[in-house]
Amino acid sequence: MIELKSAGEIETMREAGRVVAAVHAAVRGSAGVGVSLQQLDEVARTVIEEARAGASFLGYHPSFGATPYPGVICTSVNGVMLHGLPTSYRLRDGDLISVDCAAYVDGWHADGTVSFTVGHSRAEDLKLIRVAEETLAAGIEAALPGGRMGDIGHAMSTVGRGAGYGMQNDFGGHGIGRAMHESPFVPNEAHRGRGLRLRPGLVIAIEPSLMAGGDDEYVMASDGWSVCSGDGSRSVHVEHTVAITENGPVILTLP
Ligand code: MF3
Ligand code: CO
Repeated sequence: MIELKSAGEIETMREAGRVVAAVHAAVRGSAGVGVSLQQLDEVARTVIEEARAGASFLGYHPSFGATPYPGVICTSVNGVMLHGLPTSYRLRDGDLISVDCAAYVDGWHADGTVSFTVGHSRAEDLKLIRVAEETLAAGIEAALPGGRMGDIGHAMSTVGRGAGYGMQNDFGGHGIGRAMHESPFVPNEAHRGRGLRLRPGLVIAIEPSLMAGGDDEYVMASDGWSVCSGDGSRSVHVEHTVAITENGPVILTLP
């Protein structure tokens, strides 16, 4: 079932989205050479607690994870594309990290991901981040009332693949609301004009991921959570929660 959200419900999701954006800002500000992923998770916990919000990831146990999730953020470094666990790993100069976080307010969730580099950045990493952000922006622009779900994936793959990067379609976006993961699935790659009709009140997380090596293959790490590029190349993940309204798409995961 797909549940359309009222303006009031979307407003509450925007509050949750502001908490997610605050987590991103705090984690980005705390990340540096020698800082552990666990420490970043603690920074995120504090932000969520102080906002009196809930952490959507903590204890979440989807089919694609080995255990109930132990943290409040996913920290995916370099060749880890998605769902990297906040371990004792300490960030090194030049690392590329994606920070994924979802929070809820009054039972309404918002989900978002940012990617950035630590210390001296490599030009090719900055380009990968920029193209991923452009890929997400193209997907959001295509989230128009009266359009189709496939318009979003078509727009995203045109940008991401057009730049020569690898993409995968098994982990894409999702409906979001009273639960973090709801119907419908939001593919990263799809055919324009196909799929579900996009209506005002539909709220979705759009979350493309790109692999620098250009290959589509990914592998699951032995920790049962980390989704890694198959060729070990660096990868990036970005995400916003977006409400489709009569006036077009509205991003809910901004400060
Ligand atoms: N934004 C990620 C997704 O929608 C969240 C993963 S949830 C986790 O796939 F808690 F299970 F990691
Ligand atoms: Co998500």
